Amino acid sequence: MSASAKVEQPQAKFRLDYQAPDFTITDVDLEFDLDDQHTLVQATSKVKRVSSQQDAALCLAGESLKLLSVSVNGELWSDYQHDEHELRLFHLPDEFELCIQTEINPSANTALEGLYKSGDAFCTQCEAEGFRRITYFLDRPDVLARYQTRVIADAKQYPFLLSNGNKIDEGVLTDGRHWVQWQDPHPKPSYLFALVAGDFDVLRDQFTTMNGRQVALEIFVDKGNLDRAPHAMASLQNAMKWDEERFGLEYDLDIYMIVAVDFFNMGAMENKGLNVFNSKFVLANPQTATDDDYLGVEAVIGHEYFHNWTGNRITCRDWFQLSLKEGLTVFRDQEFSSDLGDRTVNRINNVRIIRGPQFAEDASPMSHPIRPDQVIEMNNFYTLTVYEKGSEVIRMMHTLLGEEKFQAGMRLYVERHDGTAATCDDFVAAMSDASGVDLTQFKLWYSQSGTPNLMVTSSYDAQQQQFNLTVTQQTKPTADQSEKVALHIPLRIALYDQKTGAPVALMSQGQSVDPVLNVTQETQSFQFDCTSPVIVSLLDDFSAPVTLSYDYSDDDLAMLMRHATSPYARWDASQQLLAKHVRRLVADYQAGVELSLPYTVGQSFLHIIEDESLAPALIAEVMTLPSENEIAGWFDVIDVDAIAHVRRFIRACFAQHWETTLQALYHDLQPAADDFSHQAIGERCLKNNALAYLALLPANSKWVEVHFEQAGNMTDTMAAMTAANSAMLSCREQLMQSFSDRWQQDGLVMDKWFMLQGTNPAQNCLANVEAVKSHPAFDMKNPNRVRSLIGSFVNNNPVYFHALDGSGYQFLVEALIQLNTANPQVASRLIDPLLKYRRYDEPRQVLMRQALEQLAGLDNLAKDLFEKINKALDV
Ligand code: TRP
Ligand code: ZN
Repeated sequence: MSASAKVEQPQAKFRLDYQAPDFTITDVDLEFDLDDQHTLVQATSKVKRVSSQQDAALCLAGESLKLLSVSVNGELWSDYQHDEHELRLFHLPDEFELCIQTEINPSANTALEGLYKSGDAFCTQCEAEGFRRITYFLDRPDVLARYQTRVIADAKQYPFLLSNGNKIDEGVLTDGRHWVQWQDPHPKPSYLFALVAGDFDVLRDQFTTMNGRQVALEIFVDKGNLDRAPHAMASLQNAMKWDEERFGLEYDLDIYMIVAVDFFNMGAMENKGLNVFNSKFVLANPQTATDDDYLGVEAVIGHEYFHNWTGNRITCRDWFQLSLKEGLTVFRDQEFSSDLGDRTVNRINNVRIIRGPQFAEDASPMSHPIRPDQVIEMNNFYTLTVYEKGSEVIRMMHTLLGEEKFQAGMRLYVERHDGTAATCDDFVAAMSDASGVDLTQFKLWYSQSGTPNLMVTSSYDAQQQQFNLTVTQQTKPTADQSEKVALHIPLRIALYDQKTGAPVALMSQGQSVDPVLNVTQETQSFQFDCTSPVIVSLLDDFSAPVTLSYDYSDDDLAMLMRHATSPYARWDASQQLLAKHVRRLVADYQAGVELSLPYTVGQSFLHIIEDESLAPALIAEVMTLPSENEIAGWFDVIDVDAIAHVRRFIRACFAQHWETTLQALYHDLQPAADDFSHQAIGERCLKNNALAYLALLPANSKWVEVHFEQAGNMTDTMAAMTAANSAMLSCREQLMQSFSDRWQQDGLVMDKWFMLQGTNPAQNCLANVEAVKSHPAFDMKNPNRVRSLIGSFVNNNPVYFHALDGSGYQFLVEALIQLNTANPQVASRLIDPLLKYRRYDEPRQVLMRQALEQLAGLDNLAKDLFEKINKALDV
């Protein structure tokens, strides 16, 4: 930074500084004259003064806009000031019509926020604060207005002109352009505005609501992609039906549109009546999409649809309340996936995200409560904490209230707040008022950041025939908060006879006890009647987002793996058994001791793998080791090489031990390639897991090539390539080449290939990743490409990202310098692994700090990166 021109530093906003606006806007009339570089926007708003402060100026947010004119009640208005971020109008009447004309440049908009071009189409992304890149506005979620939108564009290039609500009129102009007029009857905040213009193929269907209303459903995809849209349509219909059945919530417009675009910063966006989706979460057919992609489409389609009530009808008062809509909507989409598919497998996958990346975020410089207290760049707070931990907080309320009272709470919440902008406090109040459950202490989950640890000890008193459990909770200080208090933690437990594994009823002094214990104090004891020694299963179903310290013996864990009545608890016991041995082996590796894994460990797993009463998808989860990142979270100082080595060692041990069973699984499971039922998906997952282990055994690895050649869908193709990649088989290059030959025209499919390049465990990985950047399908401007190649390398290839020569860090710095100007949102997500430098050994810390300082010195550092780098370097 030059000493003379000291740039103004971005300022934080604070939750407690919230003030209601001085003005509101009740109606907006928008007109867009679309052009690649010179789009004209005219916004005509009905504005009302709502505060008693008669002299208050009207301050409208605006970014990267060219202001053409301002008029009030039809007269040109000059009593204003404006700068880079704001337009301030003075001496205004109490009620008036404001008309503002601006010009914007969509084709220069590589940040993908506001109005931009995705390929040949125009589209918008307004959450959180993108509407201010379209026009000067009260761009805050507590200003709810009725929108009318007229879109004008060339008829040939843009036959479809879409916006929120219902189409009320259309016409053609003499110069080859045409126009469409849209009207959205539901008042909404500006972040839910959307506009799309382009040429698409459309999949049309319909849905009849529980009250018999017909809703037209339309999915817009790039020309030629119609055969990839039916799964999204089926998912939408399932979501609409599910929300009626489980939550009693019905859709409220006559039309629901989804547009798939290739350039998108996130997963999808719930704009009223016109969702815009990353094409990754719409397009799927058996040739192009894996089973996980199918499930991802179902979940995201559900998520955006569920926002119609939890987000759109009831929105957020301010952005600090983001978890009000996101935590709740993630909870709803998780329940949707669980009701339609395998509940335990869904739970396991959600728990893996909390225990891996969410716990890591909690322990990082970016640590924040699910309702943050201070924000510089709102886009930085669309986080795992707000979304996934936010969902866990809703889930805990569901656990404490039970389904019936939870639904009563939801009804009260809707009754009280429909059509308004609400707060997290409002939600909890509705839950507690409707149920009579006191949530006063529970609410601390909204304000306290960090991950509580539960230290549990137990003892059996043979004389008293009593089992004692002592629970101590502790939350370590986080980067944002040094003082922590005791939380209300629902702790679900079960008891099993230590000798037989038979379930033991939970009783205390002759009375039966609820399996969910209320842990509310720092230390608390619980007693249970038992006639013989028991094994306790703790935190069943992951009843709270906490870590657990309890000294299980291998035998007790093996017993739980075999006999626990909850399939979740069986999986969790298997993970705890692994965790014990991973920790021990890492220490052995560091001490130079030869590694060995007791035969009994592999044997305990084999019992589960061979248990025919279990769903194949669940067995597949049991066989899946925790990721290197999740394991890293267990250590104060992360030893990337030791962790990678130990994880590979355990996989090799298991492959040898289980060889016969793996072969049988691989050859016996024969799901049809075109069967996408949950059963078939589970069977493929198990079969392909078996293949991944077999690939580690030279005598069996030949099956990988056979699998690739015989693959009848993308899941099997990818299973072969993934196995070849992680086992570093000699056939890898050939499979990769053949895939690229077939799919190089299709960026979305090539993302899978880029991801395998990024996670390649071979020595030359980084050089290869560098080379792949010039592959014709790679495009630094496309967030999906960046995430699949660069994101997978920095997040999921720790050994090379953390190479001791600093090459991985420098590679990231170079990408970030480019993205900082081109797309700050994508840059800001990519930097996360670098922020965690304090967790590594000294030499790596030095290199990572240097990389951060290098970025901090950029003279055009975007707010997004500024906020994160400053936090990381500051503490
Ligand atoms: N509300 C969106 C969702 O959760 C999130 C989202 C989509 C978003 N695009 C964004 C957030 C861009 C910030 C910026 O479904
Ligand atoms: Zn959402």
